[in-house]
This record gives sequence, C-alpha cells and structure tokens, in this order.
Amino acid sequence: MILAATATRIGMESLRNLTVKDKYGRGRMAEHSFPETIDTQRLILRRYRSEDSAGILELVQKNRAHLIRDFEQQAALRSLADVLAFTAEKYEQWATGKTFCYGIWRTGTSEQVGQIQVKNIEWKIPSAELGYFIGGSFQRRGYATESIRELLRALFEQLGFKRVFLRILPANSESISLARKLGFREEGLHRRAFRCGFGELHDVHYLSFIQDDWPFQAN
Ligand SMILES: CC(C)(COP(=O)(O)OP(=O)(O)OC[C@H]1O[C@@H](n2cnc3c(N)ncnc32)[C@H](O)[C@@H]1OP(=O)(O)O)[C@@H](O)C(=O)NCCC(=O)NCCS
Repeated sequence: MILAATATRIGMESLRNLTVKDKYGRGRMAEHSFPETIDTQRLILRRYRSEDSAGILELVQKNRAHLIRDFEQQAALRSLADVLAFTAEKYEQWATGKTFCYGIWRTGTSEQVGQIQVKNIEWKIPSAELGYFIGGSFQRRGYATESIRELLRALFEQLGFKRVFLRILPANSESISLARKLGFREEGLHRRAFRCGFGELHDVHYLSFIQDDWPFQAN
C-alpha cells in the first residue's frame, strides 16, 4: 500500500535525522529509549503501525461523538486513507521526539480499547502532557487508571521525566476524578486557554504529577 510505504519511509528518514546532535543530551537519551510497548496487568500499550489503521478507524467510528470536543484530530478521521496519514504522522512525531502516541489493546485480543499520547514535551526539563481516551464500551473497568499509571512509571523511572501534566475542561468531571485518584495535583484554572472541537473557547484546569511525588500511594 502506497501510504503505508510512505509512512515507513518518513519514519526511517526521521530516525536518521536523530543522529544530528541537539542541545540537551538528556532529552536525546529519553527519545531513544522511549519504550515501543508497555505491558500492564491486562493491557498492552504499543506504538502505532500502519496495520493498526482499520482498528483505529473502528474505535473512532464508535466514539466520534464523544471525541469531537477534546480530540478534534481523531474525530476528523473518516476513512482508511485519513487514518494511514494519521499513523504516518504519529510515526514521524515519534521518530523526531515530538509526540509518543500509543494505542491501547487488551492483552491477547486485537480489539483496541483506547489511546494515550505523551505530547507537548519540553526536553530541557523534561516534562510532558498526557492526552488519553478509552472507548465508551470499555470505560469504568480501570483501563485508563492502569494505562496512565504504567506510563507514569516509565516516564519517571526509566526516562527521568520530572513533570507530567494534564489539561482538563471543568465539565469533564470523570477525567478530573481519575486524575485526582492517580495522584495528580491541581495547579489552577487557565482562563480561556482551550478552543474545543466545537469551536468554543474554554477555561481549562491544569493538573500535574512531579517525579518527587512518585510513586503515589492512594489513601
Ligand atoms: C476519562 C476516561 C479516560 C476514564 O477512562 P476509564 O477507563 O473509564 O477510567 P477508569 O475505569 O480507570 O476510572 C478511574 C476513575 O475515574 C473516574 N471516572 C471514570 N469514569 C467516570 C464516570 N463516568 N463518572 C464519574 N467518575 C468517573 C472515577 O474516579 C474512577 O474511579 P472509580 O471507578 O473507582 O470510581 C474516559 O471516560 C474517557 O475516555 N473520556 C473521554 C475522553 C477524555 O475525557 N479524556 C481526557 C481528556 S483530558
């Protein structure tokens, strides 16, 4: 398939570009060692491949209405060609250390349950934002908790990240409650700081988890 081949080529070119030295030795080390798969008790988090496209499209089609507000880019995926371009973009962003996007599957099945991304990375610190969603029919089973906790473990213990933050709309009480349960602390409300997929401008809560607080012990 032409697009899949393009995805692989873009990825390989970007990987070669990594041989150019950047300013922050620490960041480069982390880029190279970002795990391509993370196993949790019930799930596998894995870097996207072009062959994941049909499953991604199915997940988006089933959840489009719930994705528009917070995940405009995903909600806009309507065809296999769209998804192949998306996976190619994610492949390139991974190779260049910009964003690390994982699909989430239940171990031993081919059914994708969600997605989690490490984005807006500041390598000098290093710090990053997480963005995640779980498909409607898989929610309230602890999958987001399990995925985020293991990703935090990798970020703090393996990759030396100092700060991980979330941006959550005030109306998203589920995600705020999830973040608090995981040990994220509130930093404050940023006024008029997020334009959602419906075009409306919102205030947004910032919550963070710093390496000094890891591992978090729930009461
Ligand atoms: C928020 C979201 C990721 C939670 O995924 P999940 O796998 O269902 O979450 P978990 O099962 O791990 O739930 C952990 C905790 O989150 C909170 N929570 C999750 N869903 C909730 C709901 N519908 N109502 C209230 N609290 C909820 C609860 O505190 C829950 O703990 P509990 O089950 O012991 O009460 C999921 O609802 C989702 O994808 N929402 C849409 C996308 C989104 O909002 N992403 C975050 C943008 S920043």
